[in-house]
Amino acid sequence: MQKTIAVIKGDGIGPEIVEQALQVLQAVAQKFGHTFVYNQVLLGGAAIDATGEAMPQATLDACLAADAVLLGAVGGPKWENLPGDKRPEKGLLALRKGLGLYANLRPARLFSALAAASPLRADIAAAGIDFLVVRELIGGVYFGEHSTAMVNGEKKATDVMSYAEDEVERIVRTAFTIAMGRRKKVTSVDKANVLDTSRLWREVAEKIAAEYPEVTYENMLVDNAAMQIVKNPAQFDVMVTENMFGDILSDEASMITGSIGMIPSASLGEGTRGLYEPIHGSAPDIAGQDKANPVGTILSAAMLLRHSFNMQAEAAAIEAAVDKALAQNLRTGDMMSEGCVLVGCAKMGSTIAALI
Ligand code: IPM
Ligand code: MG
Repeated sequence: MQKTIAVIKGDGIGPEIVEQALQVLQAVAQKFGHTFVYNQVLLGGAAIDATGEAMPQATLDACLAADAVLLGAVGGPKWENLPGDKRPEKGLLALRKGLGLYANLRPARLFSALAAASPLRADIAAAGIDFLVVRELIGGVYFGEHSTAMVNGEKKATDVMSYAEDEVERIVRTAFTIAMGRRKKVTSVDKANVLDTSRLWREVAEKIAAEYPEVTYENMLVDNAAMQIVKNPAQFDVMVTENMFGDILSDEASMITGSIGMIPSASLGEGTRGLYEPIHGSAPDIAGQDKANPVGTILSAAMLLRHSFNMQAEAAAIEAAVDKALAQNLRTGDMMSEGCVLVGCAKMGSTIAALI
């Protein structure tokens, strides 16, 4: 098969981790006889520096023309003092919105080789961590009106959070569809004791739940969910929640698996085109030092093959190669534990590519 992938290296550690993911994709192309055409485009800080805009129209056009998009990370201290609507992160949000990617899938799975790196007590980690956060990605407070104004002589800032029924319905449906192929449990997370958006969310979620009698459904308040993730993560299968709660809970969920550097994500809309990125940020403090963990990006490439190209064996080959590299006790700094071998980003990537 021939497929086009729009590639966004981004800022900070972005270029080095994407480089490794591309090596792994090349190994897959060779082994399985595919041709992947890479179209490199700019987003975030790199795009601001080159064009003055965080998401140039040319980038959106190239992504729309591609079969899938692979992204490293955007943002960094260099652009931190720009106004909110000019920051690198705004480019990422505009791209997600422009591609209509409302469903963000963030798996939290404990790799058995990494059990020692999990900050959870051994007996809690041993009970198993394997759940999926399904985060609504193009609505809620991220996309509401933002403003700062002078009111009675002091600054007052406002961020509007709103959800329409259809926005909730499609993401909750995504969660139930995925749950049918997993352990058939959905936990919908909200703050229905305080927020109107959450009360609507819960009402819609309960309606959709009734269409899936085989799936066990529960609601959970977001503060309780934050606690349950560290207390008893084995209880979760699919967790569905709105944009900002999902941002926060998915970082928490990733950390208990040993390192946020391991976790990939897929952002999907109506078609097969998706955006694939690790859930971590651009880590400017370690950029360019060959210290970054490329696994989150490499596993994002695996999700890309699975969800956008329907290449199941190819995706599984990447995941197996990652497992083998971990079984050889290779670790980047973020997931290092005693008795393991500390390697850099490039060595981790080339080892995984060679194991394909
Ligand atoms: C993420 C990131 C982004 C988000 C930032 C960079 C805008 O934290 O993908 O989780 O909040 O969505
Ligand atoms: Mg985040």
